[in-house]
Amino acid sequence: MTAPVDPTHTPAWSELAALRESISPDLRGWFAADADRAERLSFPLADLHVDLSKNLVDDDVLAALLRLAEQTGVAERFAAMLEGAHLNTSEDRAVLHTALRRPAGASPELTVDGQDVDADVQSVLEALSAFATRVREGKWLGITGKRVTHVVNIGIGGSDLGPVMVYEALKPYADAGIEARFVSNIDPTDLAQKTADLDPETTLFIVASKTFTTLETLTNARLARDWLWAGLTASAAIADDDEARTDAVAHHFVAVSTALDKVAAFGIDPANAFGFWDWVGGRYSVDSAIGLSLAVALGPDVFRDLLAGFHTVDEHVRTTPLERNVPILMGLLNVWYVNFHGAQSHAVLPYAQQLNRFPAYLQQLTMESNGKSVRWDGTPATTDTGEVFWGEPGTNGQHAFYQLIHQGTRLIPADFIAFVNPAYPSSDGDQDVHELFLANFLAQTKALAFGKTAEEVEAEGTEGALVAARTFPGNRPTTSIFAPALTPQVLGQLIALYEHITFTQGTIWGINSFDQWGVELGKQLAMQIAPAIGGDAAAIDAQDASTRALLEYYRANRT
Ligand code: F6P
Repeated sequence: MTAPVDPTHTPAWSELAALRESISPDLRGWFAADADRAERLSFPLADLHVDLSKNLVDDDVLAALLRLAEQTGVAERFAAMLEGAHLNTSEDRAVLHTALRRPAGASPELTVDGQDVDADVQSVLEALSAFATRVREGKWLGITGKRVTHVVNIGIGGSDLGPVMVYEALKPYADAGIEARFVSNIDPTDLAQKTADLDPETTLFIVASKTFTTLETLTNARLARDWLWAGLTASAAIADDDEARTDAVAHHFVAVSTALDKVAAFGIDPANAFGFWDWVGGRYSVDSAIGLSLAVALGPDVFRDLLAGFHTVDEHVRTTPLERNVPILMGLLNVWYVNFHGAQSHAVLPYAQQLNRFPAYLQQLTMESNGKSVRWDGTPATTDTGEVFWGEPGTNGQHAFYQLIHQGTRLIPADFIAFVNPAYPSSDGDQDVHELFLANFLAQTKALAFGKTAEEVEAEGTEGALVAARTFPGNRPTTSIFAPALTPQVLGQLIALYEHITFTQGTIWGINSFDQWGVELGKQLAMQIAPAIGGDAAAIDAQDASTRALLEYYRANRT
């Protein structure tokens, strides 16, 4: 294992610290002094136009950030990842989500740890496409011979957030009359509400779990199976016996997992299971068979276009020099804000209702990856690491939390994502509504960058204490990501962009961005507390005083 470079001991880090002291952010001044700033700091990334010009950097800062990337070996680690090095050191695994989107016939072939990765990826993709086509064409039928109208993905974390985000984003492409739904929470409300209006005869469940051990998913899968059996027997669609039940599961349940033995143990025929591999992290798995619900509802061609979008960005990151390498530049900017400006969070603000789940998806991607305080060799992190990612689609956020971004005391870098052409064009009289929407996107980034001075406020006739309240400081950094339309390719590009931003940051901080030990303790304790909440005296006694009191409250108020 190569020891991580301590970024704080690099010459570039010292340069950046000095620059932070000597340079006051001045976006108004920088734009006034440099007519080419917007052009110089805007970059193409496949179909995306990425404008970094409203960030708090001048040429010296950018040059020092690029040196930081060099001195911490960012490009080398990207190369190692793409070749299948075991960068996930704590689990001794390769990190190869990029292999999932390599096109058929890519050369040279990728063989890792003796596995012909390309051949395996293509074979699962073909099986998934064939299955999706059968469902979409009505050749895969429910037990009573009816076509599937609803596919319900049961999964959580990476086995849910990616599929639901992509489905929401690309719903206009759903063309086979099949609706996808997503059940994740162990709160029984989730399954109950998502199945309330469904017909068991036309519902197909996909149990999606990398490990096939996840409490929420297996519990929901059992509940779904009970729901299916109850519905089918109540309407006498099937006989009330074991054989009919087994047959019903075979028609209405398929699975996606790396643990195909556990799928079989659950009662799902391994012939109806789609595999992936331990070198795909859960939060990096939407482009694996975990995307089965997408292939069914949106079509295998849409799914392949999504993968092609990912791949163009993988190629960009692999082949583009650092100074034009957009994911690396964006990762460096995030490091600049976290480590030199004290930013604790980062907003992601899509101006696209279709991306309403994108911030939630990014929360797992970024925070499960970089929310660590030890480095990949087990030594403590030497500086602040992962920031909190959050967001909501515009314009909703404007009427909720933008106040704090504009005038609060904290620096919150923000990424704005917008699309030139809408999925649903519409006019309000003479006003193109999408243009009005985009005017808001442009206005917000402008207001955040350039603010409004006290003089400008006074010139409008405002006086006294109100002047300060109505002043906008500006110099609030934003990145604008603009694309022609939200197509499958563009969405793949966006996701890959953020994957690689996350990896860039993790590499600089010396973090293994591919494990998630921090989720384990809560899972273990939940299993210990479950008997206590059920009333087991010994288990109650074993709890701390606060937990015991909460258990007492529960028992006292249970109806
Ligand atoms: O608990 C966290 C986690 O392990 C995530 O990393 C993962 O995406 C999620 O649980 C679901 O895991 P699985 O796909 O194995 O059910």
